[in-house]
Amino acid sequence: MTEHDPKGRGAPGGASRREFLRGSGVAAATAVLTGQATAILDEAQAAAQDSGPKILKGEVELTLKVNGHDHACTVEPRSTLLDTLRDRLDITGPKRVCDRASCGACTAIVDGEPVYSCTTLAVSCQGKTIETLESFDTGEHGVPHAFCKDDGLMCGYCTPGFVTACKAFLDKNPNPTLEEVRKGIDGNICRCGTYVGVLQAALDAAKAMKGA
Ligand code: FES
Ligand code: FES
Repeated sequence: MTEHDPKGRGAPGGASRREFLRGSGVAAATAVLTGQATAILDEAQAAAQDSGPKILKGEVELTLKVNGHDHACTVEPRSTLLDTLRDRLDITGPKRVCDRASCGACTAIVDGEPVYSCTTLAVSCQGKTIETLESFDTGEHGVPHAFCKDDGLMCGYCTPGFVTACKAFLDKNPNPTLEEVRKGIDGNICRCGTYVGVLQAALDAAKAMKGA
């Protein structure tokens, strides 16, 4: 491009340098407007927050449906389902091991789905059905029996969570393959490495549950 070339090829879209600079001025003005608009938006957001979601403080009253029964209790809004079950409702099937959603020992079933109760807010479970292993069939057609029969445990820390995860899985998939069981309960870990027994227990429980 030469200096007298009016169509500056260095300018976007083939515009002349002058047109390009004029355009830049408009862009700068737009940026100022955008800044004003942002300030207005911030004000609107602040106003919306004033009339928006309320911040819960202190304790709240809660009714949780656990194992078919309504349980009323009072908890802080930040309370986890695990804390609420164990410390307020005396339902101790779910165990606290890692307390950070990595081991599965605290598994409970909420609306048919296995959840880590250590990282689930209790207030989010109101109006939902919650199942813990206290409600499971402990007879020969139940999952706990299969774990005993197949030695699906050593120290037992992980076992309540595995039993619960297996129950949730088998309720949805009553005829699983070994691979499906492996994937279906892979949110739980056993530090003792008792996986052979756990997997066998899940397969045997699937058969046993059909006879119930
Ligand atoms: S205690 Fe909840 S995942 Fe480990
Ligand atoms: S049996 Fe010990 S952690 Fe699983």
